[in-house]
Amino acid sequence: MNKEEIKDKIAKLKKEKNAVILSHNYQIGDVQDVADYIGDSLGLSQKAAQVDAKIIVFCGVRFMAETAKILAPEKTILIPDVRAGCPMADMITASELLEWKRNYPGSKVVCYVNTTAEVKAECDICCTSSNAVKVVNSLTADEILFAPDKNLAAYVARYTKKKIIPWDGYCYVHRYIKARDIREKRNLHPEAEVWVHPECLPEVIDLADKVLSTGKMVQEVRKTKKKEVIIGTETGIVYRMKKENPTKNFYPARDTALCFNMKKIDLRKVLRSLENMIHKVEVPLEISQKARGAIERMVEI
Ligand code: 13P
Ligand code: SF4
Repeated sequence: MNKEEIKDKIAKLKKEKNAVILSHNYQIGDVQDVADYIGDSLGLSQKAAQVDAKIIVFCGVRFMAETAKILAPEKTILIPDVRAGCPMADMITASELLEWKRNYPGSKVVCYVNTTAEVKAECDICCTSSNAVKVVNSLTADEILFAPDKNLAAYVARYTKKKIIPWDGYCYVHRYIKARDIREKRNLHPEAEVWVHPECLPEVIDLADKVLSTGKMVQEVRKTKKKEVIIGTETGIVYRMKKENPTKNFYPARDTALCFNMKKIDLRKVLRSLENMIHKVEVPLEISQKARGAIERMVEI
């Protein structure tokens, strides 16, 4: 089957089964093209809860599909490749978090959505890359344990008086992007602005004009008067930006900033997922309920 035939078959099956395809901004272009909604990690999970469809094919990494299942437990959530995990989310386990918490009585635990459901279940509140500062500042405790991303933690620390104690996790994709990449790209494109994701290294953040989550980047691109932007995040997002804003130019800060887990999903796997109803994402009820509490506390803010 060629690409167009696969796309046609996916569209037919989607209709037959009343399914919806969600794609993260970092997915390959072909997958974005067959998606009903493209978005950031939390936005997609919320979409999963809102849509009418009973079956959701979630094209992203496991923690995102799990979050969708937590917010929409009555729906069937399928992930086309179960090996699509997030190495950063796996840098802290629930037992490690429990032990860490014991050493800091009186503190509150904020977990980035890039965590497993088990870890979310043990934290006080979740946050995303777009609301982390707001979430931290909403808490009454003066000491905050922040997991797992130490770079996002360092970014938050710039905007709060609270003491932020970071877990030693990081995203290997954003760590590829170095300050020298930003300087080189600025020299090549002097008219361009530099936008980076808060998972980037502090020295990269220092050089940026804007620090934005993937969802905010996509919104901001529509509004900006700038014709050129250097993008400091996973390069998959550039496909969407260019498709939606054909008259503007986007340059990845580093061409090799690729999340190999995001790229594990392709059209054939999306088709197989719909045909065979695989791989179903399940979260045990007790964990799901506790994790949902942490997500809902964030959404209330
Ligand atoms: P967003 O929530 O900004 O989509 O980020 C998710 C992610 O995995 C960033 O690397
Ligand atoms: Fe995880 Fe980084 Fe990939 Fe995002 S880009 S899914 S944080 S490894």
